[in-house]
Amino acid sequence: MRILVLGGGGREHAIVKALARSPRRPELFCAPGNPGIALEAACLPETDPTDVPAVVRAAADHAIDLVVVGPEAPLVAGVVDALEAAGIPAFGPTRDAARLEGSKTFAKQAMDEVGIPTGSFAVLRDRDEALREIASASFPVVLKADGLAAGKGVLICPTEAEAREAVEVFFTERRFGETEVVLEEFLEGEELSLLALCDGEVAIPLAPAQDYKRIGDGDTGPNTGGMGSYSPVPTVGDADLAELSATVHQPIVDLMARRGHPFHGVLYAGLMMTASGPKVLEYNTRFGDPETQAVLPRLRSDLVDLLSAACRPGGLAALREADPAGRAVEFSPEWAVTVVLASAGYPASSSKGDLIEGLRDAADSAEVVHAGTAERDGEIYTAGGRVLNLTGLGPDAAAARQRAYDAAEAIRFDGKQMRSDIAERAVRRSE
Ligand code: AMP
Ligand code: GLY
Repeated sequence: MRILVLGGGGREHAIVKALARSPRRPELFCAPGNPGIALEAACLPETDPTDVPAVVRAAADHAIDLVVVGPEAPLVAGVVDALEAAGIPAFGPTRDAARLEGSKTFAKQAMDEVGIPTGSFAVLRDRDEALREIASASFPVVLKADGLAAGKGVLICPTEAEAREAVEVFFTERRFGETEVVLEEFLEGEELSLLALCDGEVAIPLAPAQDYKRIGDGDTGPNTGGMGSYSPVPTVGDADLAELSATVHQPIVDLMARRGHPFHGVLYAGLMMTASGPKVLEYNTRFGDPETQAVLPRLRSDLVDLLSAACRPGGLAALREADPAGRAVEFSPEWAVTVVLASAGYPASSSKGDLIEGLRDAADSAEVVHAGTAERDGEIYTAGGRVLNLTGLGPDAAAARQRAYDAAEAIRFDGKQMRSDIAERAVRRSE
């Protein structure tokens, strides 16, 4: 079987590693890939995953049997639709189904329609409407750009003055393009990332994970793409997981099927565990980054089987029925902790071209995943904001965390940034 993974970050490296563990021994390709991925898959550095015709050509040229889409941009650009039209199975939602991530107003209206718990909201279409709504809001409020903004389109406004400033950012500066804006109630609690594999009919949850969005220890400083993660999450047991998934995933899968846009791929619910119960902050329509780096190393089931099954209507339900234990996905009880190393200046900017040392030593204690690296004359250099992810595995949170940090300490490059408190709370809770 020949599988092409689209993307070139840490998430895609973790997906490639998990596919490489399959007993089916698939032949792996990755576009564009990165120097870490190149150790396990044939990289196609010239193929841009958002260039839909180029992806279809590459898949046809390499006689690919399954394409696995990592990032959101190719989904929203319709890469799955084009691959399917060319007769090539692809893991991921079609453009219409990917609107759950591509448009916040679409997602909020979908949640509203099927009664999924989420913050109260209003859709703002212009500056006057926005100022009127803000005048009667209670603070803090959250303002969100409708479209994709790489995690930067969410502004939390503690006061009316800040909300008015945010309105200018959206409607006068148009920093996020000509877009609708969602005004949302501010929710407090712990965040939880709950991903499910979907086959157009059923949603089967993966192990829960916790993500660390802020750059600084103690959740301080600006938001990033994610500075670390861990799995499992001790406060979410198997029964809670099934109930949560039945509340936040299945009704969306049912709705999309009724609308004639069946959802295939990963449905990722970003939840806030509030005092009045879990509420959905957002949906993503792909694997989380860096949650995937902590979740997939714990997966015992064959990822190739799961992703292939998700492309067929009812394919996952059939896998589940064929399993004597009645489940399609099985996870190891061990812990995984992922620490992200970022380059100098991240998240405002990122430094490139700094020599990375210690990769071999790091691999002694953890899985080394490349997120933003480049190779030159056999040496590895930084090439992006998030550079490397180190995933430690162990029988408990403390052991996994120790391995991740041993590896993170072994890596050296100028301006290296990391948080020192990833999974600290999980260790304290399990003591
Ligand atoms: P989103 O892209 O909607 O997930 O927002 C990015 C991040 O902003 C979330 O992971 C939260 O940390 C924060 N956030 C979004 N919506 C809210 C909200 N209603 N209340 C509090 N924080 C929020
Ligand atoms: N970890 C957040 C995301 O993947 O969107």
